[in-house]
Amino acid sequence: MSQIENVLHESRRFQPTAEFQARARINNEITYQRMYRQSLEDPEGFWGRIARELPWTAQWTKVLDWSKAPFAKWFVGGQINASAACLDRHLATPVANKVALLWEGEPGDTRQVTYSELADEVGRLANGLRSLGVKKGDRVAIYMPMLIESVVAMLACARIGAAHSVVFGGFSAQALRERIQDGGCTAVITADGGFRRGQIQALKPAVDEALLGLKEVHSVVVVKRGGNPVGWKEGRDHWYHELTKQSSSNCVPEAMDSEDVLFLLYTSGSTGKPKGIVHTTGGYLVGTYLTFQHVFDIRPEDIYWCTADIGWITGHSYVVYGPLQNGATVFLYEGAPNTPHLGRLWEMVQKHKLTILYTAPTAIRTFMRWGDEHPGRFDLSSLRLLGTVGEPINPEAWMWYHRVIGRERCPIVDTWWQTETGAIMITPLPGLTATKPGSCTRPFFGVDAAVVDEKGQELATNQGGFLVLKRPWPSMLRGIWNDPERYVQTYWGKFGHMYLAGDGSRRDEDGYFWVMGRIDDVLNVSGHRLSTMEVESALVSHPKVVEAAVVARPDELTGQAICAFVTVRSGEKVGPQLKVDLGEHVAREIGKLARPAEIRFTEALPKTRSGKIMRRLLRDIAAGVETVGDTSTIEDYSVLAKLRADEE
Ligand code: WTA
Repeated sequence: MSQIENVLHESRRFQPTAEFQARARINNEITYQRMYRQSLEDPEGFWGRIARELPWTAQWTKVLDWSKAPFAKWFVGGQINASAACLDRHLATPVANKVALLWEGEPGDTRQVTYSELADEVGRLANGLRSLGVKKGDRVAIYMPMLIESVVAMLACARIGAAHSVVFGGFSAQALRERIQDGGCTAVITADGGFRRGQIQALKPAVDEALLGLKEVHSVVVVKRGGNPVGWKEGRDHWYHELTKQSSSNCVPEAMDSEDVLFLLYTSGSTGKPKGIVHTTGGYLVGTYLTFQHVFDIRPEDIYWCTADIGWITGHSYVVYGPLQNGATVFLYEGAPNTPHLGRLWEMVQKHKLTILYTAPTAIRTFMRWGDEHPGRFDLSSLRLLGTVGEPINPEAWMWYHRVIGRERCPIVDTWWQTETGAIMITPLPGLTATKPGSCTRPFFGVDAAVVDEKGQELATNQGGFLVLKRPWPSMLRGIWNDPERYVQTYWGKFGHMYLAGDGSRRDEDGYFWVMGRIDDVLNVSGHRLSTMEVESALVSHPKVVEAAVVARPDELTGQAICAFVTVRSGEKVGPQLKVDLGEHVAREIGKLARPAEIRFTEALPKTRSGKIMRRLLRDIAAGVETVGDTSTIEDYSVLAKLRADEE
C-alpha cells in the first residue's frame, strides 16, 4: 500500500477575533508552545499538576504506569469518585446555586436544576439503586431519551461504583439485549418513552423484549416521561419517582480506585460485533476536565450546548463529565431538530441565549440543505463559539457554519477524537489557533500525534498516511470489555508501540492535521490512493450539492472506480446534465483521476445512528452485491432499501 494522495487545496484561514482572543485562557503562541512542550517533555509532571485540581480522596503514588503496555494505569493508587468530582466539589462554592442542567422537552416544556439540586437527586437515585442491590463493580445499562434523569442515572451509578453502559435510545431491543449480555449488566434504567418528532417513542417495551429470559437483570428503573402505557413485571420494575421519593439524598460516594471502571460504551467495529470500550475513572476525569476547559474556553456565564445524545462518547465526555467538573451550565434538548419546524434549534439558541454550540458535520450539512432562512429568522448573537466532531467536515459545510450560524464572529473548534480516546485529541484552541476549514489543526496538550506510512515511518509534509498517537494519554481506553486480545490487535497490532486510530490523515506545512476519513474507506484508482473526504468535499463544493459519499467499486481497467452518491439542495433538479456538471466540477477541483465513474442521486445516505455515513454498505450497493456483516447500527433501513431499488 502506498500513501494517500493529497488533492484538496484549501487556503482560507480564519483568526479568532481580537475580542475573543483578548479574553481567552490561552491566547498566545508562547504560552501554548510552553505548555505543549512541558506536556511532552515531562508528561507525569504536567498531568500530575492538572490532576491535583481534582478532588481526590487518596493521593496517587505514580502518575503513569506503562510497564504493561498497551495496558496503561494512570494515577496509580489514587482514589476519586466521578460523581463527587462533578457535584460535591462545587457544593461549598457559589457554583452550588448555579444552574447545572437546563432542559427543554420536545413539546416545549422546560426544567432546570442547580448543582445542589442535581447532587440531591443523584444522591436519592444512588441510594435507591443501592436499595435494589446494585453495588460497586456491577454494570448498569441506561436506555433513555435525553432527560435530566439520564444524566442523574449516569452519575448515580458512578456514585455507588457501578459502571454504566449507556445504550442509545434509538437502538433496537436486539441491539440492547446484546449489549446488556456482553456487559453482564444486572440492572437497567430506562423511561416509559420520550418525545421524538411529535410522537412518543416508547422505550420500556424494547427493554421488556430485550430482557426476555435474561435472569441476570434483577431490576429495571423506569422514569415516567412519555405517559405511554407500559407492561410491568412486579418485583423487577420500579418507577423512578417512587424509588427516589423513598430515598435520602445523602449518599456517601464510594471510594473508587483511579483504575476502577467508570463506564463501558459500545462502538461498532467496521465489521463483526460491537466493542465494549472500557474507560476507567481517574485518567478519564482528568482528560475530560482539561480538554473541556481549554477547547471551549469555558466561562462562568456560558450556557453550553452539545447536541450529542448521552448514548455516544461525546454525550459522556462533553455533556456530562467535562462540563460538570468545570461547573458549567449545560443545555439539554429531548427531541428532533425539525419539530415542530426547521428552525427549532435556532429558536432555542435565541430563547435560552446559548453561547456555545457543539454539533456534528452530518447535522450541519442537514441544516445547510434545509436552507439559510431557518437560522435567519432567529437572533443568534448570544453564540460566541462553535464546535464540530464526528467526521471530517467538508470545507463548504465549515464555511456555511461559520457564515450562517457563527455570523463570521465565532471561532470554530473542529475537534478530532474517538470513543477510544475518551477526550479531544486534536483541536484548535479557540482564542489562539488560526483555523482552516476542514482541518482539526494541532494536537492538544500531552498528545503526540503523527502521520506514518505502512512501516510506521513518519511521512513528510502533506503526505497522507496512518494517523497514530505515539504515547499513552490519561483518558485512553483501557481495553475492550471481555476481549483484551482484540484490544491489542485492533489498536496496537500494526505498529506495536503506537496507537492506530484507523483514520487516514496528512499534516500540512503548519503542522495542522487534515483527517481524510477511515483508512478502510480509502479509494484506489489506477494506483492512486485518494481519500473519500477529499473527493466528497469537491462534490459538496458544487453549489447544488449538500452531501456526498464516495466509494470504490471494482473496475477491470482502473482497479477501482469511484461511485458517488449525491444529495442535492432542496428544490434542485437532478438529471443527466447535473451528472456531467458534477463530473466536470470534480475534474476541475481535483483532477480527472477523481472524476466519478458513476453518480447516483439519492434523497438520503445510509448513516449510523450517530450520523456517520456507512460507506461499507454503499460499497456493496455500488458493487451490486448483498450486504454481509453488521447492519444493526444503521439509522434508517428504508434508505438502504431505496438505494437498492434505484439500482433496478
Ligand atoms: C471521526 C466521536 C475528522 C474519525 C468523538 C474518528 C473525525 C471517528 C472528527 C470516531 C473530526 C471524529 N475530524 N474525523 N473532527 N471527529 N472523527 O468513536 O474517523 O464516534 O476515528 O467518536 O470519527 O468516532 P466516535
